[in-house]
Amino acid sequence: MKFFIYNTNFYSICKSDIQDIILLDQLFVEMGYDINYTVWSVEDYLFYLAKRNSVLTVVRYQKIIAFCLSVINADESELYKIVVDKQFRGKGIGKFLILYHIGFLKFNGVKASFLEVSSENSHAINLYKKIGYEIINVRKKYYASVDAFVMKKLL
Ligand SMILES: CC(C)(COP(=O)(O)OP(=O)(O)OC[C@H]1O[C@@H](n2cnc3c(N)ncnc32)[C@H](O)[C@@H]1OP(=O)(O)O)[C@@H](O)C(=O)NCCC(=O)NCCS
Repeated sequence: MKFFIYNTNFYSICKSDIQDIILLDQLFVEMGYDINYTVWSVEDYLFYLAKRNSVLTVVRYQKIIAFCLSVINADESELYKIVVDKQFRGKGIGKFLILYHIGFLKFNGVKASFLEVSSENSHAINLYKKIGYEIINVRKKYYASVDAFVMKKLL
């Protein structure tokens, strides 16, 4: 089994790749952790990818099976999205993906990565903690009755 991981942009991503990403995005919505979460349209992805401060990293195995996206502001970044396809979870792909992604951010001068996660999303929290993210703030009842953790990792 060969997986490919790479950063991509407006010029090198095609519409069917974005449709794969949108299906992954929908998987996250179905999990119900984030009532504020928006599944982006193809146009939204193209808009963000055309902005030079967005970084999209994908893992491909025949099709795109995992992705993450950060937006950079000055020397800080925010991880907006990370999803691994259901059948590929628990194999180290999420960890590899995010380490590759933040490595690229660091190489480009980013000093810190921030993210927000539901306090009930223990799989994601475990992953983030494992690679050195720390909880720096709790947004009480951010998702209706559930708290959100704001996490940060210095790069
Ligand atoms: C969170 C997610 C990206 C993790 O991806 P993954 O490929 O399954 O994760 P990995 O196999 O790389 O595991 C990395 C670490 O995550 C944690 N983790 C992953 N799956 C877990 C599980 N089922 N139970 C507990 N911890 C888990 C563990 O700490 C694991 O390290 P370990 O295997 O050394 O114990 C994946 O579960 C996912 O796509 N979830 C839905 C989308 C989502 O919730 N995104 C986060 C939005 S804030």
